[in-house]
Amino acid sequence: MSYQQAQARAAQLRSELHAHNHRYHVLQAPVVSDGEYDALLRELAGLEAAHPKLAVADSPTQRVGGGVAEKFAKVRHPQPILSLANAFGAADVAAWFARIVKLDERVAGSAFVVEPKIDGLTVVLHYADGIFVLGATRGDGETGEDITANLRTVRALPLRLPVAANATLKAPHRLVVRGEAFFPTAAFETWNNSLAAAGERTYVNPRNAASGALRQLDSSLTAGRPIALLCYQILEMEGAVASTQWQVLELLRALGFPVAPTARRCATLPDAIAECESWAERRDTLGYGTDGLVIKLDDLVLQRELGYSGKDPRGAVAFKFPSQEVTTQLLDIGVNVGRTGVLTPFASLEAVEVGGVTVRNATLHNFDFIAEKDIRIGDRVLIKRAGEVIPYIIGVMPGARTTKLRSFKPPAVCPECSAPVHQTEGEVALYCVNAACPAQRKRNLEHFAGRSAMDVEGLGERVAEQLVDAGLVQDAADIFLLNKEQLLGLEGFAEKKAASLLAAIAAVRTRPLERLLVALGMRSVGDVLARDLAARFGSLDALRACDAAELQALDGVGPATAAAIADWFAQPGNQQLLHKLQAANCWPVQEARAQPLSGPLTGRTFVITGTLPGLSREAAAELIAGAGGKVSGSISKKTSYLLAGENPGSKLTRAQELGVPVIDATALKDIIAG
Ligand code: IVH
Repeated sequence: MSYQQAQARAAQLRSELHAHNHRYHVLQAPVVSDGEYDALLRELAGLEAAHPKLAVADSPTQRVGGGVAEKFAKVRHPQPILSLANAFGAADVAAWFARIVKLDERVAGSAFVVEPKIDGLTVVLHYADGIFVLGATRGDGETGEDITANLRTVRALPLRLPVAANATLKAPHRLVVRGEAFFPTAAFETWNNSLAAAGERTYVNPRNAASGALRQLDSSLTAGRPIALLCYQILEMEGAVASTQWQVLELLRALGFPVAPTARRCATLPDAIAECESWAERRDTLGYGTDGLVIKLDDLVLQRELGYSGKDPRGAVAFKFPSQEVTTQLLDIGVNVGRTGVLTPFASLEAVEVGGVTVRNATLHNFDFIAEKDIRIGDRVLIKRAGEVIPYIIGVMPGARTTKLRSFKPPAVCPECSAPVHQTEGEVALYCVNAACPAQRKRNLEHFAGRSAMDVEGLGERVAEQLVDAGLVQDAADIFLLNKEQLLGLEGFAEKKAASLLAAIAAVRTRPLERLLVALGMRSVGDVLARDLAARFGSLDALRACDAAELQALDGVGPATAAAIADWFAQPGNQQLLHKLQAANCWPVQEARAQPLSGPLTGRTFVITGTLPGLSREAAAELIAGAGGKVSGSISKKTSYLLAGENPGSKLTRAQELGVPVIDATALKDIIAG
C-alpha cells in the first residue's frame, strides 16, 4: 500500500471509529460489535505503526494513553471557572430568586434549567476546528493543569466532533467546553475491590478516584479506569452561540458531547424546586455521585448581566440535598481477612442514621488511612454516605476527644489464623500469606459458590464457614467429595438439607466455563472478561497454555491483567485446585473461536429469560452467538431484544419499562433467517 493509500484509509478508519465511539459511549446505541470495533482499531494501529506520521492527536488509537509526563503544564482558562452559591432547601432557593428579581425584574419571567450537580472533577476542554487539542483541570479557577493526554483516554470525550457528516452544523473554529469527569459509582466499587485484593491503596470516594485517575503522569494508567464525562457549559465559542442554557445543552449534544439525560427545563420556580426535591429519593439511580442539583436561569443574557457575587454567578444556584454526613462514636476497629489474604480494617460504630439508612459499620480502607487520620478507638468520627457507596469515615472530630485515647496498632498476626502478617514492598496492604488460613478458605469457597460464580444453592457464608471449620473443605474442589454422613454431622443439617446441598453441588459441574473462570477468582477477571476468555479459549487447558501476547490481544486485557492471570496459574495451590477440579469432572469445555462470529445478529445484544419451549437457554445462546449476536445477563437501554419464554419474571417488566422489544424463540429464528 502506498503512503497515499494508507493515509486515505487511515482517515476513513478514524472517522468510522469516531462515529462508533460516539454511538457507543455517548448515544449508548452501538451498531457494531466490540469485536468489529477492535478489528477496525487494529487495522488503524497497523497503518500508524507502518507510517508513524499517521498517528495524529485525534486518532482513536490515542485513547490507550502512553507517554509519561514529568509534570503537568499550566493552562490559563479563557474565563474564570466559577463555583456556585449553595441553597439548602426550597426556602433558600426562593430567597435566591427574590434577590435576583430585585436586581433585575425581567428575572421574574424567566424559565429554568435543572441539572444534576455531578460530584466529580471540573474539566475544561478546548477544540480547534473540531479537534480536541487541550484539556485542563479547574485548578484555582484562573489557571489549571494540562491533562490532555489523560483526557484523551476518556471514552465519552469526543476527540473529534462528529459533525463533519452533518452539513447544517459545522464544527466551530474555536470551542471551549466545561464538563465534569467522574467515576461511576458501580465501577468505583469494583475498582476499589480490585485495588484491595491487589494490596493497593483504595480510594475514599469516587471523586478522589476520578481525580487520581486524571492526575496520573502516565496516561496509559488513566486509560484503564472507567472515567465518564458529562458536559454543561460553553465557555467560548465562535459564531452563533446559544442564548439559553437549554439550547446550550442541545448544541453540546448535537456537537457530540455527553450531556446529562436527566436535565429538565422548568417553566416556573416551583416546578424547578419540585424537580430538585424529586431527586432526593432517587439520587442513587443516577449511577454517579451528586450532592444536589443546579438550578440555572435559562436565559443566558440575564445570567450574564446579573454578574457575580464574589466568585459565584448570581444566575445559578446549587440545590443541595440534606447532608449525608453525621458524627457517631467509633466503638471498635475490626480486621477482615479477604479471599486473597488482604487484611482490611473496618469500624464498628454506634448505630446512626445517614441518608435514610442505619449505619453500624464503615470501611477504614487500610492501616495507613487510620494512621494518617489519627483515628483512635473511642473517637467521635464524621461519616458520610454518598450515593450507593458504602458509608465511609471522613475523619475524627478532634475537639470531641476528652480523654487520652491510645493509637491503634495494625495487627502483627492474622486475626483468624495467627500466622505472621506480611507487607509487600510498595504496597500498603498487610497480608496473611498462610495458604491454609481458614478465613481465606472460607472467603474463597463462598466466592466460588456465589451467585455470579458457580451459584451453588445453599452454600452461602454460614455453610462455607461450617465446612471449613469442620475440616471437610480445604479448597473449592473438595465440595465434590462431600458425602451425606459428613453433612449430617454439621449443625442444622438434617436429611433433606444435606441431600439438597449435595444435589446442588452435583449440578454445578455443567456450569459454563465463564462461570468457573469467575469462580476461580483470578485478579481482574470479572464476568465480562471471563466471558471473553471462555469464548476465545474454550477451556482452562487452552487458557493455561496461552502466552501474554495472546491474552493482551483481547479487549480490556492489559499487561497487568495478563500478568495476574499467568501468576494465578503459577501458584502451586491453584495448580492443585485445577487438578482436583478436573478429577472431579468439573471441567467445562466449549468451542473456542478466534474472533467473534459475524452474521445477521452482529451488533445486537440479547437477554434471555423464562423457559423457551423446545429450546434450552444454552442452545438459544449458541444460536445467537453463532449469528454474531451477544448474550448479556442484564437488561439495559443497550439491549436489542429480550428473548422471553414462559414465566419471564422481572426481566420482562424491566424490558417493557425501557422499551426493549420482546421476542419469542420463533421470532428469533425468523430474525436469524432474515
Ligand atoms: S454550573 C456558572 N452545572 O459544581 C456555572 N456546575 O459548586 C457554574 N458542577 O465547581 C457551574 N455539575 O464543577 C454547574 N451541572 C452542573 C454541574 C456543576 C457539577 C460542579 C462544578 C462546580 C461545582 C459548583
